[in-house]
Amino acid sequence: MTAARPGARVALVTGGGGGIGRAVARRLADEGAAVAVVDRDQEAETVARAIRAAGGHAEPFLCDLSAEDEVAALVKEVVGRFGGITDVCCVAGSIRRGTVRELSLDDWHATFADNVDSVFLVCRAVLPLMERAGHGSIVTVASGWGLRAGEKAAAYCTAKAGVVMLTQAMALDHGPAGIRVNCVAPGDTRTPMLAREAHQLGQSDAEFLAEAADRPLGRIGTPEDIAAAVAFLASPDAGFVTGAVLTVDGGGSV
Ligand SMILES: NC(=O)c1ccc[n+]([C@@H]2O[C@H](COP(=O)([O-])OP(=O)(O)OC[C@H]3O[C@@H](n4cnc5c(N)ncnc54)[C@H](O)[C@@H]3O)[C@@H](O)[C@H]2O)c1
Repeated sequence: MTAARPGARVALVTGGGGGIGRAVARRLADEGAAVAVVDRDQEAETVARAIRAAGGHAEPFLCDLSAEDEVAALVKEVVGRFGGITDVCCVAGSIRRGTVRELSLDDWHATFADNVDSVFLVCRAVLPLMERAGHGSIVTVASGWGLRAGEKAAAYCTAKAGVVMLTQAMALDHGPAGIRVNCVAPGDTRTPMLAREAHQLGQSDAEFLAEAADRPLGRIGTPEDIAAAVAFLASPDAGFVTGAVLTVDGGGSV
């Protein structure tokens, strides 16, 4: 066990093997946090190794975040290795493009499992630790499509609207215990998810990216753009911020 120094930050980052999650994990490690890089994909191991090679403190944890027993075991293991959890960043998610007529019930349930159940289960397991500590920060990652609907993404839009509302409900319920809960709503960001979306819609990467860049700042986001917003909301600079939804999309929703 590598117990955390008293007062040190320990961040549990879900989806840490993916595009945005790995940027969040790296950013928080650069800021001095010990990072639990959590994903169901083995990429979590590569990400944790890279952080350690750069002088940071990170361990990988393989977990299906939509499975109650796996999440309970995960939180126990992270606490055992790091001595506590001060920050949670719920980045894991997945998309299945389609209208209500095109989506199967399995698509619907899987989208909710990855995007909403994962946030509920992780937060439910970590909140008692934060309550005992008297402080803590949770940052969720929703989407611009959780605030305004997008085409051919009915399950995803509904699930991400759920993430926004779950964030705000937790901000209300757990603020009195000193726990801040905020949300980042990214626009199109260059990650493997975006490539999968292009594939699901039968578009080429180039075509999809060109359409996605049509926004005031003239480009799509980078994982680092989103990680910077997550890091701000998690930091003491946002000490009076809770229940906020920070859109990071180059002005795409203006
Ligand atoms: N890329 C974008 O354009 C974009 C835009 C808006 C919102 N988002 C959101 O940002 C977050 C990160 O997306 P990304 O673009 O980095 O995608 P990504 O596919 O690169 O990464 C997502 C990661 O989440 C993991 N994951 C999903 N469900 C899981 C589960 N049940 N258990 C464990 N791991 C699970 C995947 O294995 C993957 O590594 C997602 O919540 C996504 O919805 C992305």
